[in-house]
Amino acid sequence: MDQDSYLKLQDDIEKEAVSALTEIASLVDLESWRVDQLGRNGKVTGLLRGISELPVDLRREAGGKANSLKNALTEKYQAHKSYLEGHSTIESESGTNSLDVTLPGRNIESGTLHPTTATVREICKVFESMGFQTIEGPEVELDTYNFQKLNIPEDHPARDMWNSLWIDRVLPDGSRPLLLRTHTSPMQIRTMESQNPPVRVVVPGKTYRYEATDATHEWQFCQIEGLAVDKDITFADLKGTLEEFARRIFGDKRKARFRCDFFPFVEPGAEVSIDCFKCEGRGCRVCGHTGWIEIMGAGMVHPKVLEGVGYDPEIYSGFAWGMGAERIAMLKHGIDDIRQFYSNDVRFLKQFSR
Ligand code: PHE
Repeated sequence: MDQDSYLKLQDDIEKEAVSALTEIASLVDLESWRVDQLGRNGKVTGLLRGISELPVDLRREAGGKANSLKNALTEKYQAHKSYLEGHSTIESESGTNSLDVTLPGRNIESGTLHPTTATVREICKVFESMGFQTIEGPEVELDTYNFQKLNIPEDHPARDMWNSLWIDRVLPDGSRPLLLRTHTSPMQIRTMESQNPPVRVVVPGKTYRYEATDATHEWQFCQIEGLAVDKDITFADLKGTLEEFARRIFGDKRKARFRCDFFPFVEPGAEVSIDCFKCEGRGCRVCGHTGWIEIMGAGMVHPKVLEGVGYDPEIYSGFAWGMGAERIAMLKHGIDDIRQFYSNDVRFLKQFSR
């Protein structure tokens, strides 16, 4: 071979190798390229071997060129290899065993409603379907609304029913009028003060009590208040409404029981229970072997409370209730510790996804 055809051959090999390399998109193809060009029987290797057949005086220059071609292609090969390793695609990998495209994909985790939120929404929906409007109110409340206007005067022993978290702001007269609301009942007053009867509201929201926590007590929990005021509202309306609620949440067969209880802002006051859905009233662990489960406090709005907001108790009457949202959720889902709701353990929270 003379010098010209040797150099042309070298040139052709280089062009072909480089253009082939740019097309390569997988490590498998890259490996066969390497074997074709730089392998033991590859074209570049053949070029180097061919040097010995050239006239002696040309060998030096041709050899130098062939060697730099080999080095240049090796460098390009390395660069392309690291490029492919960083950007492997299903197409580029599917020829190897490293990726099984028939495997099921990974699940994408999606968030879900917190069980308390889900329960609150479900409960409010039931009352909305009966004509109640869902509203919310402040969590930092005035003593007046949390207690006084609810017929709980200062120094009244009934205040002990609610252990309060006071806001550290003492007025010049020594009074501390702000606290974290201990129940959602202040919204009864705020609602009646801001509108005329008829009133039908349901008020979900956070409430706070200065209490030690255990399986059934949290210092922060969620209540759902309800209030209906109109002409001719009787205890029968209270019973009918709350019984219907119990059936919609706990099942068609549920019976409700109303027994006397005391809350300063209602007269008469009642504790509302349902017959145990677990044992059908026979007695079990869920109902503490009584056959009944208490689900809320309720009663007819006290005439003094109506008077206080400017409603004439001779014309208007009403009923109110207050229930713990977590308690309802615990009963519905068989959860035995209220602290689960606020510990943010994903394994717990996940169970309630719909
Ligand atoms: N606010 C009462 C409580 O927190 C519950 C209640 C509300 C009772 C409305 C009667 C009427 O214990």
